[in-house]
Amino acid sequence: MSHATLFLMVGLPAAGKTTRARELAATHRALRLTPDHWMIPLFGDSMADGKRWVLEGRLVSVAVQALRLGTSVVLDYGLWGRDERSALRWLAGWAGAACEVVYLPVEKDVQLARIAERGRTAAHETFAMTEADLDGWRPRFEVPDEAELAGRALPGPPVGWAGWREWAADHWPTCLDG
Ligand SMILES: Nc1ncnc2c1ncn2[C@@H]1O[C@H](COP(=O)(O)OP(=O)(O)OP(=O)(O)O)[C@@H](O)[C@H]1O
Ligand SMILES: [Mg+2]
Repeated sequence: MSHATLFLMVGLPAAGKTTRARELAATHRALRLTPDHWMIPLFGDSMADGKRWVLEGRLVSVAVQALRLGTSVVLDYGLWGRDERSALRWLAGWAGAACEVVYLPVEKDVQLARIAERGRTAAHETFAMTEADLDGWRPRFEVPDEAELAGRALPGPPVGWAGWREWAADHWPTCLDG
């Protein structure tokens, strides 16, 4: 069992995930993996025809390698879906590491103010977002429940899946390669 921890940053855009992720990385001497900081220089786009899932998969593979080496990892993905979080909690255990869900709630007016400010000061690190985008995204976000935040027992995988390993390999192509 390594003493490493996988930190999962969870929250809507502009919730403060990357800001907190940097703090956690410094405090825990952890590796921070922020897909936006790869997607923007590589593709200038957040999804790039699904390449985001491949990139996230490769970064999950990096995360597992680091955890096995005893290095903590901060996964700065957003992780709107409970299944994504469950799969990553399972992967952390598989790598012999602990896992913490770090949820940052945010109100819409705060999101709007921060997005406007970020557009002025750090436009190269982020994507343009409109108020309509924020309104469309919020209902799709699954707020972490008590059990996730407390790190209690994992639910089983969705119907039709043999396990979280298989679910993860489908959701994040290449996440278990190498
Ligand atoms: N606790 C805070 N108080 C005030 N401002 C904050 C706080 N956390 C972050 N900010 C500011 O809000 C903006 C958004 O923060 P950040 O980029 O960390 O959010 P994010 O959740 O990573 O967003 P995204 O999902 O778009 O990557 C930044 O300009 C940041 O400086
Ligand atoms: Mg961010």
